[in-house]
Amino acid sequence: MNLTSLAEWSDDEILAILDRAESFARDPNGHRDLLADRIVCTAFFEPSTRTRLSFEAAAHRLGAHVIGFSDATATSSAKGETLRDSARILGGYADALVLRHPTKGAAKEAAAAAGIPLINAGDGDGEHPTQTLVDLFTIRRECGRIDGITVAVVGDLRYGRTVHSLIPALQRFGANVVQVPAPGLELPESMGKVPSVSLAEAAQTADVLYVTRVQKERFDDPDGYAAAQGALVVDAALLAESKAIVLHPLPRVDEVDEDVDLLPAAKYFDQARNGVPVRMAVLATLLENHS
Ligand code: NCD
Repeated sequence: MNLTSLAEWSDDEILAILDRAESFARDPNGHRDLLADRIVCTAFFEPSTRTRLSFEAAAHRLGAHVIGFSDATATSSAKGETLRDSARILGGYADALVLRHPTKGAAKEAAAAAGIPLINAGDGDGEHPTQTLVDLFTIRRECGRIDGITVAVVGDLRYGRTVHSLIPALQRFGANVVQVPAPGLELPESMGKVPSVSLAEAAQTADVLYVTRVQKERFDDPDGYAAAQGALVVDAALLAESKAIVLHPLPRVDEVDEDVDLLPAAKYFDQARNGVPVRMAVLATLLENHS
């Protein structure tokens, strides 16, 4: 079993992860033997703080060992090794492979070669399924449900892989989604018809503002980045009359003002912390089903 895209998982499989993550969140120290002496490999070909380190913390909390790299220039990919070959090699060393890569589709390609459970930790502007599980977990905790709520996705909706994974998952579980794109960065057509609203309207009508950074590293054209960067900012004044909570996969640049951090609506640091129990649930589930 792999986690390359949540589209391949049933509703029940997703809900089982969220429920299991709740039990890990309640008792994070009580499961040190669950994956004792299993080996998790984190192979990160792109920068990461939260995703890699929350996976590593999750593995350690379950008693697993961790190997891996976060600087691909120090690996054989710098000598020209293909991703398929690297994945096949790592599949011979570890029991699960957590992969982040700049190319969309990389996770599916590597999964076929690895022969061990593979988890997509972000593939270019493609998907980021474990972030979506963290987001669903946080929304369910903070709003009490997913069904029937309205989520406004804000910012770089063109290149942001977090929203590309999150939107179909929200729709499956009955949430309404609206978009507030930064200039020129609307959702791709493949996401279907998602109504556009202004940021002010979203703040007044949504239950969740899901804010994202402009993905500087994905632009071929520096003018496109300059036109979008800084165009949408969520600050305390915008939220004055709002009932919405604010989520952000992080890192933020300047799209959520630091004055929001002091408001009860700010849930993005809780969201980041939820990364550990949710990834514990993912690792436990995938590794238990693979001896
Ligand atoms: C996101 C990513 O890598 O896609 N970060 C994360 O995993 N929390 C969002 C981003 O980089 O903007």
